[in-house]
Amino acid sequence: MNVLVIGSGGREHALAWKLKQSPRVGKLYCAPGNAGCAEVAECVAADVKDVSGLADLAQKLKADLTVVGPELPLVLGVADEFARRGLKLLGPTKAAAELEGSKVFAKQFMQRHRIPTADFQACALPSDAYSALCAVEWPVVIKADGLAAGKGVHIADEPDDATAIIEALMEKGELGAAGDRVVIEEYLEGEELSFIVLTDGKTILPFAPTQDHKRAFDNDQGPNTGGMGAYSDDYIADATLRQDILTQIVEPAIAGLAADGRPYQGFLYFGLMLTAAGPKLLEFNCRMGDPECQPLLLRLESDLAEALEKTAAGQLAGTELKWSADPSVCVVLASGGYPGSYQTGKPITGIDAAGQLDGVEVFHAGTRPAEGGLATAGGRVLGVTARGADLQAAIERCYQAVEKIQFEGRHFRHDIGARGLKKLAARS
Ligand code: AMP
Ligand code: GLY
Repeated sequence: MNVLVIGSGGREHALAWKLKQSPRVGKLYCAPGNAGCAEVAECVAADVKDVSGLADLAQKLKADLTVVGPELPLVLGVADEFARRGLKLLGPTKAAAELEGSKVFAKQFMQRHRIPTADFQACALPSDAYSALCAVEWPVVIKADGLAAGKGVHIADEPDDATAIIEALMEKGELGAAGDRVVIEEYLEGEELSFIVLTDGKTILPFAPTQDHKRAFDNDQGPNTGGMGAYSDDYIADATLRQDILTQIVEPAIAGLAADGRPYQGFLYFGLMLTAAGPKLLEFNCRMGDPECQPLLLRLESDLAEALEKTAAGQLAGTELKWSADPSVCVVLASGGYPGSYQTGKPITGIDAAGQLDGVEVFHAGTRPAEGGLATAGGRVLGVTARGADLQAAIERCYQAVEKIQFEGRHFRHDIGARGLKKLAARS
């Protein structure tokens, strides 16, 4: 079958890289893709906001399956447009993607279906938000309702901070319509876990557990980013915890969506906080995680194309996913200044040398061809990803590969996976 992957990040390069390994895949396209995608697929120009243009493209390329990486086209209804035209697509409808598109909707959904989450209030007016602050404990978390590219969640330690955040979001409109409504919620303590499943709305196939590193600098310092690295190791969540997550959170969510008339198909990402009172759901994403996708697909031994094809056809029952026992680690190399402003066009060297190391794959995010090689073209530039016999070995290998790659301003975290090592040490 011909497959079209929509998006241009490290997640999409990893998806294309894995799909390319399947004997089921004929022509493979990425729209718009990046320089890494171009090594395994044909890249075609596309605007991911233009859902009807994407459907035109799938028709023109005779794609038998389209796999959507980022949330924006899903929230805008790309799955509905494809369904109208009888085209197969992996990803939820606009109604189901509202789980990510609106935090107010997501929190009310969790409450309606008794999914453990932080206590909250949804506020549609600044005056509601200011009065909600009178009855909270500090710190408190304030979230813009709509998509905000990682800029919508704020933690306020005291009333003055919270008032300034509400003013910026609701009165000054700093995030546009995304901040018209806010959620004010209880601050939860604990460790975060990314729990991603593939579902056709009936069968649920959990992916291996992963942990993201959202802050820009080592030891979780600095501003939030899209994710500076992730690792996957079965120790992150043992079998009992995984079962609790499935029965308390994942199954009620998939069943709840069906009961609400919004049946779900595609990847569903549960952003969890592991609290002393058990796992609680912070957020839904209606797609694969980025960078979580990179270490996950490095561990996946099954045919991804088969699993995605069956998901889109509603025939996932009977499919199993096999995972390598080897843990994996992905370190993101970012442009100097990211997640703030940064320069692009910096020549990159050493990718081939890094990729030649045993067990290493270098996934591209913000890269483009340049004279004599490649140049930086985004905030997150590369996701250097490695597998190892244990987490320590995977981390060492990954950083060996990182050291081979250079570009001006390169910055990365030195502690990806360190939390997992601490956990392992505590067990022995
Ligand atoms: P979200 O987009 O809702 O996942 O929030 C982004 C990040 O903010 C999460 O990954 C957490 O690090 C943090 N966060 C969100 N909600 C809470 C909460 N209720 N308590 C503590 N941290 C939170
Ligand atoms: N890595 C977090 C996300 O994909 O939203």
